[in-house]
Amino acid sequence: MTRKIILDCDPGHDDAIALMLAHGNPDIDLVAVTTVGGNAFLDKVTRNALGVMTMAGITDVPIAAGCTRPLLRQVEEAAEHGESGLDGVVLPPPTVALDPRHGVDLIIDTVMAAPPGTITLVPTGPLTNIALAIRQRPELVDRVQEVVLMGGGVHVGNWSPVAEFNIKTDPEAARIVFEAAWPVTMVGLDVTHQALATDQVNDRIAALGTPLAEFVLGLFRFFRQAYRDTQGFDFPPVHDPVAVARVIDPSIVSVVRAPIVVETVGEHTLGMTVTDLRRTAAADCHTQAATALAADRFWDLVVDAIDRLGKAKTDA
Ligand code: BDR
Ligand code: CA
Repeated sequence: MTRKIILDCDPGHDDAIALMLAHGNPDIDLVAVTTVGGNAFLDKVTRNALGVMTMAGITDVPIAAGCTRPLLRQVEEAAEHGESGLDGVVLPPPTVALDPRHGVDLIIDTVMAAPPGTITLVPTGPLTNIALAIRQRPELVDRVQEVVLMGGGVHVGNWSPVAEFNIKTDPEAARIVFEAAWPVTMVGLDVTHQALATDQVNDRIAALGTPLAEFVLGLFRFFRQAYRDTQGFDFPPVHDPVAVARVIDPSIVSVVRAPIVVETVGEHTLGMTVTDLRRTAAADCHTQAATALAADRFWDLVVDAIDRLGKAKTDA
């Protein structure tokens, strides 16, 4: 059955691939896109989202800009994505119009207009929009099918020794989202660090031969160098589409059920997603953490989506 998702994102190189996977996979119905200040300031990530959607031929999905900054803290732009938030490619002039609503309102309207239990939220940036949506309309917690987010990690951090960027950028929002009694799957660094855009992956994408494939190669070229320079990776981890892949085919991302709380006061641990692996059988547990990725099958999905979108665009 097709899964309806709202992608709440901050493009961002890997967010761009998440957009392509979400729209290019036949088992996903991308019903809305919202942006949030994160990898770069809101105006940049929104412009990037519009440009990526134009490039990928995603023209029939409403997109709205959400929160400019975290609930309590400032936006810290991430060097991994460059000055524009999406360095390494030239974006086409957008042919997609921005929905005039605030992103939080688009999330609320979309979930409330759909039958209960049919919309999945896939946040791939800081959780500010999602937290505000459930503060504004608490009934969303029951109406949403599940939340499958990219962020956090059981054992690894990238923005501190123990905290991941999306969670550390807005830990208070993350706390609200993890505490709400809806099913939350944390697709964290433990698995996304296995989603590497290797030479082999680049070769597969190059073989597609479409302008969209070239665009993706440009994204990966910049991302690879940036991850080498900033975090010492040989190949860049393409985090965000892993959350989308989990919705498409849960068997690609293994999970463990465990209580997860977000650290909001620790001097050295701010933004840590503290995962209690001692309580995996807790009856009241509504959270789970990703533990392993079937990387080959993940890349099969991504390459297939880029192929479909690229061909559809060329035929249009
Ligand atoms: C996350 O942070 C961002 O830089 C990426 O887009 C991803 O969502 C990885 O920590
Ligand atoms: Ca992101």
